[in-house]
Amino acid sequence: MPRLIVASNRVPSSKGEIGAGGLATALSDALTSHGGIWFGWSGRTSDSPDEQAALDEHEGFTVATLDLPEDEFQGYYTGMSNAALWPAFHSRLDMVHVDHTAYSDYRSVNRRFASALHPLSRADDIIWVHDYQLIPLGQELRRRGVIGPIGFFLHIPFPPAEIFAALPWATQLAAQLTAYDLVGFQTVDCARNFAEFVARCVPDGSSDAGQVQIDGRRCRIGSFPIGIDTARFATLAESKVVAARARRMRDWLQGRTGIIGVERLDYSKGIAQRFLALEALFERAPALIEHLSLVQIAAPSRLKIAEYQDMQADLEALSGRINGRFSTLDWTPIRYLNRSFNHTQITGLYRACRVALVTPLRGGMNLVAKEYIAAQDPDDPGVLVLSRFAGAARELRDAVIVNPYDPRAMADAIVRAIDMPIDERRERWRRSMEHLRTHDVHRWSRDFLTALRSAHADRERSVAA
Ligand code: G6P
Repeated sequence: MPRLIVASNRVPSSKGEIGAGGLATALSDALTSHGGIWFGWSGRTSDSPDEQAALDEHEGFTVATLDLPEDEFQGYYTGMSNAALWPAFHSRLDMVHVDHTAYSDYRSVNRRFASALHPLSRADDIIWVHDYQLIPLGQELRRRGVIGPIGFFLHIPFPPAEIFAALPWATQLAAQLTAYDLVGFQTVDCARNFAEFVARCVPDGSSDAGQVQIDGRRCRIGSFPIGIDTARFATLAESKVVAARARRMRDWLQGRTGIIGVERLDYSKGIAQRFLALEALFERAPALIEHLSLVQIAAPSRLKIAEYQDMQADLEALSGRINGRFSTLDWTPIRYLNRSFNHTQITGLYRACRVALVTPLRGGMNLVAKEYIAAQDPDDPGVLVLSRFAGAARELRDAVIVNPYDPRAMADAIVRAIDMPIDERRERWRRSMEHLRTHDVHRWSRDFLTALRSAHADRERSVAA
């Protein structure tokens, strides 16, 4: 079996934890079974960083990391990745900062990564690059002579063509993507958006039947909805530590209905809209006051960007206003936690809360939706309220699907979830869980790697012909 090299901006820490966010936890399983390297940023900046990667042995694979110069890092990570690509890919052009220096830092960091990764790779390795921070990496590796299979997976949404076209570097980014043998997206809509952009907006671009072509360079595209490690999650949810966590939460709820929301503090997640929906609910159904509480975890992130700081202040004000308006002497409607928690703590919360709100305005997959389902007690499962704009909505058809922009519809969906009879809850949960068991993250990585090998073989054949 060939070795696997995974490249992503964040890498697992020496404690075996993976950086914040939904980036594929089970890639470590794929790496352990293939043997190989996980390559990425060390999490540190320095004045004169080493050009060679530092190597650290983990169980079953090597983690190779690079420090970055502070100024280039800011352009690459804050300026380009998170203040231009992230908002544009989430269809928030109002939040895009066009900064050409940041784009050139983004290119330089990707060149640095390629120069450090290339000497570590062997001719028969499979290279799998992850997410929007590293779009140009494949092209840079090809320039350095890598001819083996290189695949790319985008964890976040790909926007409609005319939105993507607003990025001044859109055509270059699309051309960079064609350096990969296979580009994977979370949903068929995202793959279609990319194909449409190439066909309609790129000179010398075309697309047909699952592939795109720019200037004679062709790459396969496809949808590979990411899963979770369903079995491991379900086992954790049955454990004593999780039961203890769940008990503490239930004690706090005092018999009231718990509603859970868990995300990074990010404008794509629809947290403010969720708070407003709760306010609309108490206005429309005052009998529910004192009967339910929303526990909202919003882990701070990317606070160098003004929009994230503004959002932090806005959510504090909004939760404070709603709590001030409705709280009673021994009850608060919103328990707002502006910090992160570990897996066990969160699984305990999933288990104790009857409803989960996963209501992004736009999302790649939103794995919290899948985690919540996998953590439920089969005899008394909770109900998932899911935005139609979450990637997971394409798969989890048995969730209560909502439009997160409509507070009244959201309020109705919460009531529906709370009132759902036990038989219906069990039946919906059973179907969702069945899907999660058959479409877990191991299948996702197998499917992607199989498609990557076949895309590479096709390309070699067409070059030889
Ligand atoms: C999302 C992205 C990841 C990113 C994570 C956390 O899940 O898809 O690539 O790592 O957010 O964001 P951060 O900026 O902290 O890495």
